[in-house]
Amino acid sequence: MSASKESCVTAVVGAQWGDEGKGKLVHLLSRNFDLVVRYQGGENAGHTVETDGQTYRFRLLPSGILYSHVTAVLGRGMVVNPISLAAEIDELSTQGAFRGKLIVDRGIQLVLRAHQLQDQYSEEAKDIGGLAVGTTRRGIGPAYADKHFRVGIKAGDLLRPRAELRQMFCSDITRKNALFAGYYGQPQGDAGELWAEFEPAIEKIAPYIADAVSLVMVAKEKCRPILCEGAQGVLLDLDYGTYPYVTSSHPGIAGALSGTGINWTDIGEVIGVTKAYTTRVGNGPFPTEELGPLGELMRERGAEYGTVTKRPRRCGWLDLVLLKYAREVVGITKWAVTKVDVLDELSEILSCNFYVQSDHMAGPTLNPEMDRLGDYLPRYSRLSGWNCDTTQCRRYADLPSALINYLKHIEVATKTPVAFVSVGPATDAVVWIGAEQVAMAEA
Ligand code: IMP
Repeated sequence: MSASKESCVTAVVGAQWGDEGKGKLVHLLSRNFDLVVRYQGGENAGHTVETDGQTYRFRLLPSGILYSHVTAVLGRGMVVNPISLAAEIDELSTQGAFRGKLIVDRGIQLVLRAHQLQDQYSEEAKDIGGLAVGTTRRGIGPAYADKHFRVGIKAGDLLRPRAELRQMFCSDITRKNALFAGYYGQPQGDAGELWAEFEPAIEKIAPYIADAVSLVMVAKEKCRPILCEGAQGVLLDLDYGTYPYVTSSHPGIAGALSGTGINWTDIGEVIGVTKAYTTRVGNGPFPTEELGPLGELMRERGAEYGTVTKRPRRCGWLDLVLLKYAREVVGITKWAVTKVDVLDELSEILSCNFYVQSDHMAGPTLNPEMDRLGDYLPRYSRLSGWNCDTTQCRRYADLPSALINYLKHIEVATKTPVAFVSVGPATDAVVWIGAEQVAMAEA
């Protein structure tokens, strides 16, 4: 898969509550792209790439950076902690995999230690009323809040004279300290100590700060292929997700547009990534959650523990009502279905086709109304499991017929073809599906 001449941009978007396996797909696709641009979120995301006997961990950088031809871009819609970015660059450099082809957009809002404290204090305060979101405590919400409040520090500010920057930094801490002491009744940050922790990161990052929007525009003019990498997933979208149990950014295509300088006419394919089942970390409704042994099986076989916080992920069946919603909200043109091998041992697979409400009336089919999601009961289709090892499958013809049926079931329900199936953690454990092999139901 590569970008076409007319539309040089492909986007990879999470269609569930994050952790769908976007990183592996982005890594594979990056071979065919010149620019790989991450457009939202920050170090609340995380994924691991295992290739050529090495393991690489990513939080902020797009994994495309492993290819020497790729320029990795941190787009304007992200929030970036410079200390963490410097550490990630150091780690990759130690592994001999950082070649410096990195652009950090100057408009990026920075995440400071004070934002992380604020995230922690806010979660602790909400927890008293049982209302904690279950954030990653990486300061993401407070950094986006400051951006919307039009205060804080941008990546471009790191290029200011040092004394000026220090003054900005200290007045930011003063503002936060008033909030910590007055509102949360929590310990304040020491501006001197926090600056000492922050300052070394400036030199590390400064060489990569530039106007990424100009870079993207020039690349588009030359029809250079651009891959947009989303973090988290549509169901965690601030507006279209299960608010308030969401992240503070827009993981869908709207985020790709506002977070990169790409416009809607540039977009070609939008690949929605979904697991063959569903997971969620943190609090909030999850209609198809399996609290018993089946959920446990998915968690253990799928190693479903958060990459950032190590929290066990909640697991359950695939929810086609939510996938249809994700397709609709984002404009997904193809699916990538990941971790099908996790279901290899099951003789029966369930997938939720519609909801009923507590009064037994049918739930909405088009827009499940995210704020009411907790009131719905899932109604399942029961499909035959494939009950065999799929981890060695590399071609469509290798896939067991029950798995092909399952994929078709997804395609028919969502009216969107499956283009990519992941059958194991290894980079090459994938099956690419050509359009001709997929029986698409007519609308
Ligand atoms: P925050 O993004 O740290 O503010 O967390 C808000 C919600 O989004 C919490 O439920 C987190 O668990 C969830 N979340 C944030 N990033 C990810 C991710 O990369 N994968 C899955 N869940 C995430």
